[in-house]
Amino acid sequence: MANFIRFNKSESMNFFMITIIGSGKVGGDAALFSALKKLDDQILLLDVAEGLPQGEAMDINHMLSEQGIDVEVKGSNNFADMKGSNVVVVVAGSGRKPGMTRMDLLKINASIVKSVVENIKKHADNSMIIPVTNPLDPMAYITYKVSGFDRSRIFGMGGMLDLSRFRQFIHEATGHSRDSIRALVIGEHGENMLPLPRFSSVSGIPLSSFLPKEKLDELVQNTKQVAARVIELKGATVHAPGNAISAIIESVVRDRKQVIPVATYLDGEYGHSEVTIGVPAIIGKKGVEKIIELDLNEEERQGFNKAVKSVKDAISGIEI
Ligand code: LAC
Repeated sequence: MANFIRFNKSESMNFFMITIIGSGKVGGDAALFSALKKLDDQILLLDVAEGLPQGEAMDINHMLSEQGIDVEVKGSNNFADMKGSNVVVVVAGSGRKPGMTRMDLLKINASIVKSVVENIKKHADNSMIIPVTNPLDPMAYITYKVSGFDRSRIFGMGGMLDLSRFRQFIHEATGHSRDSIRALVIGEHGENMLPLPRFSSVSGIPLSSFLPKEKLDELVQNTKQVAARVIELKGATVHAPGNAISAIIESVVRDRKQVIPVATYLDGEYGHSEVTIGVPAIIGKKGVEKIIELDLNEEERQGFNKAVKSVKDAISGIEI
């Protein structure tokens, strides 16, 4: 097999700005969406499984060739290849099976994420890390603690995916264009996620102008439960998480400063510390550039505090 031809980049340039660790369905899809969006001219897929990242890269490169897109996706089992990466996505680990909660993956994935983050620290210690592995919020906490990186460089993908589902349900319920719909979900990427109708709208018009409270409550419940339904039907969620990952990467590499709900470390925000959980933040080239503190009402604050407790309980059960 011919060696991969590296672009004739100057030594000072990073070979890979974007590295995705975990080349299963979601990791592969994140690479595919990132390549289609041309977020970098080279994207690295890493995995411990021999052949998987290489095969995934070849398959994506064939698609890119037909599209005439000169983004090179490389697959490797060598973690040293991530050297110099600016953005590293961690999606390695087990996915949940039908009937499981994300929290059921805590023990098995904690050790995998710890080892992956130690490798990132060794090979890409200037990078920003986007944890995806579930249970997302405790895994983001492990990433923050094990990496020792500034908290602005750790932002987990969870709420971005949840809000994509909330938007779909709003679209279905109102019939309005998906493009007009803005939605927000904070808290735990799990049983205690907090879709926020009060902070969601159709072209800036509050949802409550379109839908009665009972319907909004129904959409909130649907948002919480739909991932499990997709897993029941097709075995895994793939395209929505893959897309959400690429959207966060895009806000970083293009410095878009989008407001995105990400799992990041709180140091007093929302009255909490020593926890990593989904909150709205401005995401740009420096990662989490500002955490936005919403003016939550009593019911919303209780929901958020319940989510914080759930994540803290999980964190207390793992050795870091
Ligand atoms: C989901 C997984 C990624 O919500 O947690 O689809």
